[in-house]
Amino acid sequence: PVLDERGDLVGVVTIGDLKKALIHRMGHSRVKGYMAIDPVTAGPETPLHSLQKIMRDKGKGRIPIVRDGELMGIVTRTDVLRKVHSALFKRKKRGTGGMVRVSEKMKKTLPGKLMQMIRSIGREADSAGMNAFLVGGFVRDLLLGVKNYDLDIVVEGDAMRFGRILSDRFGGSLVIHRKFGTATLVQEWPRWLGSPLNPDNKFKIDIATARKEKYREPAALPVVKFSSLRHDLYRRDFTVNAMAVKINGDDFGSFADFFGGTKDLERGVIRTLHDRSFIDDPTRVFRAVRFEQRFGFKMETHTEYLIQHAVKREMFRRTENQRIRGELILMLKEGNPERAVFRMRELHELRFIHPELVLKRSAKRMFAEIPKRIMWYNSIAVRKRKLDAWLMNFLVMIENLSAEQTEETLGKFVFSNSVCARVRSYKERERSVRTRLSSSHMPRPSVIYKLMEPLSHEAALCIMAKTRSKRVRRRIARFFTRYNGIQLRMGGHDIKKEGIPPGPSYREILKQVLYEKLDGRLPTKRSEIKYMKEVIRETG
Ligand code: CTP
Repeated sequence: PVLDERGDLVGVVTIGDLKKALIHRMGHSRVKGYMAIDPVTAGPETPLHSLQKIMRDKGKGRIPIVRDGELMGIVTRTDVLRKVHSALFKRKKRGTGGMVRVSEKMKKTLPGKLMQMIRSIGREADSAGMNAFLVGGFVRDLLLGVKNYDLDIVVEGDAMRFGRILSDRFGGSLVIHRKFGTATLVQEWPRWLGSPLNPDNKFKIDIATARKEKYREPAALPVVKFSSLRHDLYRRDFTVNAMAVKINGDDFGSFADFFGGTKDLERGVIRTLHDRSFIDDPTRVFRAVRFEQRFGFKMETHTEYLIQHAVKREMFRRTENQRIRGELILMLKEGNPERAVFRMRELHELRFIHPELVLKRSAKRMFAEIPKRIMWYNSIAVRKRKLDAWLMNFLVMIENLSAEQTEETLGKFVFSNSVCARVRSYKERERSVRTRLSSSHMPRPSVIYKLMEPLSHEAALCIMAKTRSKRVRRRIARFFTRYNGIQLRMGGHDIKKEGIPPGPSYREILKQVLYEKLDGRLPTKRSEIKYMKEVIRETG
């Protein structure tokens, strides 16, 4: 912390900042030029869970505690985690895998019915003669105090059989992935879990067999072989995702951490379990960036080295593009995609999306605008659609790609038709929309409507985020709040009465009438019908 002469906190400087300054031979300069101003602070009364949230949201590992501008102390991530999970951090050396119970922690943080369900799953495992463990993101988030109700279960036994047992017991639809020997039970999101955490409103239980994985060749699908929990955890991506909680037997709630996951959570570090991790599965590069940015963690130095090594070996060439697409979308769905995208640039990974992809200088501003535009859109009531926020972030990300390069990217990653159409609608029209809507005389409403109507709402909002012209923004806003909501009083049946056989001409006629109405010339149903007759006469 840097204080002024009155003792008030004016900035924060890290050892990393100081080292950088020294490397650049700036040892004589003032700290003022190197410190971060407006540091994120908290007051002495801030509850620990709020501090935890601040650290997570702002990506800070140290928060100065301030009262009336005066520095009182500093809280680190370690301090918070130690307090929140004291039982876990008191113990043992790394790598022992010694058992600690987290059942109390589960009872306190999980909804009662979910806890009951986990216990019943454990009892089913007992009856089937298998050990069952919760693993992965669920355990990580349990320790971090983040809500996550996607159950990821590993059994020492046949996962597909256990899947069938659970589907008999709890209902829902069971998806068996025979090739991988895994099963997923999908249910509607139960009301008792509160509002859905997944956009698809599904509650999912993934079941896998604890197994030793041999990769036939780098980046190929794994060949499955049965083995134990430790092996299962060892093949996972990062230490923080490789912890487990036993949910059957008398030792329900026993916590297994073979690779120092808790330590890394405490330090805020993303670390791979072994050096081949990114070669086995290059999509983990995206995941490393995603988790780093989501939790405000830092990649451990060696892990970052491994990524650069994987990038150099061009591992992505051998990975199925659909998997990269999946990870890319997940990254762009995160709360702060901008940080992740810029981090990708730092790691020279953007070229795997497209070799010519570079982030424009305006990207930062656009990324920041996107959530504001989405909020605005959700606050207006007229003919709303469900937006894909990730798609808007994607549009910002690929701003510099030409139409042809965009097509190459869409094709390579096999994006769905609906995504392709929305991306194209932006790429093809954004420039002309901005130009035409910026003219100094007000275009007629029908002109604005014709320009905007073919655009996806994501594309339209991206144009709003991109333009610096208030006029353009205002006119697009008017499309959403007024013109897009205007509906005709007359309909197809009125055209039918004129003896026109139903067909594509109906749409054309209705459109012409709508344009006239938008321009304020058809106040009543009668005037609409009268105009419709004129259109029919004119077009023959
Ligand atoms: N996993 C992995 N390598 C991958 C993908 C997943 O090792 N390429 C493992 C990790 O242990 C991860 C678990 O599978 O925790 C579940 O994966 P997933 O559901 O994709 O991620 P979560 O960790 O649950 O993260 P999120 O909160 O984003 O869902």
